[in-house]
Amino acid sequence: MNIISFDSLPSTNKYCELLDLNRCEEFTVISAKAQTAGIGQRGNVWESHPNENLTFSLILKPTFLPISHQFQLTKSISIGIANWLRSIVPNQYKIHIKWPNDIYVDNRKICGTLISTKVNSSGISAAIAGIGLNVNQTHFSDWIPNPVSLKQLTDSTFNLDNALRELNTHIISQYQHLLDDIHTPDQDYLNRLLNLGERKQYIFHNQPIHATIQDVNQFGHLVLKTDDGQQITCQMKEIQYVI
Ligand code: BTN
Repeated sequence: MNIISFDSLPSTNKYCELLDLNRCEEFTVISAKAQTAGIGQRGNVWESHPNENLTFSLILKPTFLPISHQFQLTKSISIGIANWLRSIVPNQYKIHIKWPNDIYVDNRKICGTLISTKVNSSGISAAIAGIGLNVNQTHFSDWIPNPVSLKQLTDSTFNLDNALRELNTHIISQYQHLLDDIHTPDQDYLNRLLNLGERKQYIFHNQPIHATIQDVNQFGHLVLKTDDGQQITCQMKEIQYVI
């Protein structure tokens, strides 16, 4: 693992997008103590106080993964993060993956991930896995829904350099299991999936519905059964959780 650390960047993902990834070693980590324009899912901004959290991008080369199975990468990264958190967060708290790749402690979000894959004529050539994890921050803006940090959960302050190295070790270890069998993360992902098998409320195409998550299919789409027995399969922009 090769960690390159910046005091400040607009966004570690943006920085990596501008690199020639062919000339970058796999497992290079671009980390920033502060981001001035951090990017979140669904076009949101990712807010993180300077010097308090982890904001980084890990460069991967999952050339062995067929494009049709690229969601396996999301699964293995999410499991790596969840496993590292499990080794730190007291057992009274549950650690879940909220589909597709947010990490929740009970019903509060501790980590978000933004993965982009690069494709050439032979398939996937590289991936940029951008990760924001709340570590020592204890005050969050009101607009951020249900945030939580490691410090709030443990009352301890964490050394960010150690945390960065340990977290990436866990992620890379899960990623390397994919090389043996790309289906290795399937069961662990479902075991950690928030709301699996539980009837809950969602907003689907702007309408409130009650439904039960049944599965996540090979394309990474969420599969739910509604109260009237209908099966729906949806992508991220189609559904919102009510938490
Ligand atoms: C989400 O909205 O849940 C995804 C958040 C991803 C944030 C991380 S922080 C490091 C990397 N650089 C970015 O600009 N975004 C990702």
